[in-house]
Amino acid sequence: MPLPEPRGYPTRFGHLPRWAGEPLKLLTEGALLGSPFALRLGRRAVVGFTPEWNRMLLSDLETFRSRGSFSSLSPYLNGGIITTDSPQHRPRKSELNREFHAGAVRGLADRLRAVIEAIRPRGDFEAGSWAAQVVQASLNAAYFASQLPPTELAAFLAPLKRPFPAPLLPRPLLFFRMRRRVAQIQAEGHGLAAHLPLEEVLIGLAAGYDTTAHTLAWALWHAANHPEWHTPQGVPLLVKETLRLFPPGYVGSRVARRVFAFGAQEFPVGWLALYSPYLTHRHPDLWTGPLRFDPGRFAGKIPAWGYLPFGGGERICLGMHFAQLVLEQALAVFPAGLKPLRGDPTPRPLLTLAPRGPLWLRGY
Ligand code: HEM
Repeated sequence: MPLPEPRGYPTRFGHLPRWAGEPLKLLTEGALLGSPFALRLGRRAVVGFTPEWNRMLLSDLETFRSRGSFSSLSPYLNGGIITTDSPQHRPRKSELNREFHAGAVRGLADRLRAVIEAIRPRGDFEAGSWAAQVVQASLNAAYFASQLPPTELAAFLAPLKRPFPAPLLPRPLLFFRMRRRVAQIQAEGHGLAAHLPLEEVLIGLAAGYDTTAHTLAWALWHAANHPEWHTPQGVPLLVKETLRLFPPGYVGSRVARRVFAFGAQEFPVGWLALYSPYLTHRHPDLWTGPLRFDPGRFAGKIPAWGYLPFGGGERICLGMHFAQLVLEQALAVFPAGLKPLRGDPTPRPLLTLAPRGPLWLRGY
């Protein structure tokens, strides 16, 4: 039986124009038809969002490959660990994890706190812009011991936060300059970069920038609107709930290298297989009152394979602990809290999900 499909164009473009213009609406419409549903995105694609689907897609690295998936469309994400597939993926990831596991990252806490304190806003500020500064300063501190001129890092990362097609365009000169600069800092032995292959440094910066910055902007906004959670004990739950409702990586993709079956359905080689943290996190069978902002729900049990803001399985986010540390340190620099002034936190799909903004806050 053919899979259900949301409304698309009967031409060869299928769902592509809607995918480019209104992906969240398209995904939400598709989800109403059930899991999985099909899309035509220039090639055949299938989207699932139940825990069973997520487990299948994220656990079987032999069948579901990363190279050739959506990440490969952007020069920022087309390389390093992201396009390394099984069997090379596991040993490479273990090597990178030496620098990024929870214990290793904790050693960066004081340094991150100092760089964030140094740019703490006093008075009114726009959460999106400040969050971008915080994450750039944190990445610079961790990777380069703050030796990279901030304007160079800002210029390299800027296209990631612009609308399509900016993050997908090749930028040979920008990349050439960044590679040369990183190689120089590596040779001088500064920061984490000195222990990592150059390619992985660039991938880490790109994968870690807009994801963490958008999460921080939303977390600040929610901390201001729900001050009862803006406490040392409350912040970890507030961050989790922010990532549930607004997962920057709202859709992840793989390419099927082998025929695979899900339920009674068989799928051919070459299909794109997508999972969607956004849909899973808003699934009413998994979450009570899924659209309500309620950090308290994380004090209880969370559904297995039903919460994946950082993905899951062996390909789980390399920078997860680092991102959590940056978020917690940044939320901790307002001793007397935050006040919401005005703003629009509705999600807007760029390369990652971003708040539409602006988000004006007052810091105390
Ligand atoms: C709140 C911030 C972040 C979010 C929401 C996030 C989300 C994700 C997700 C969903 C994946 C899995 C993608 C997939 O399955 O296709 C992923 C992978 C990855 N992330 Fe993050 N990320 C964040 C921060 C970071 C940071 C700070 C870094 C680097 C320092 C980073 C580096 C990576 C890398 C290298 C991968 C690929 C891992 C692999 O393929 O084995 N991320 N991230």
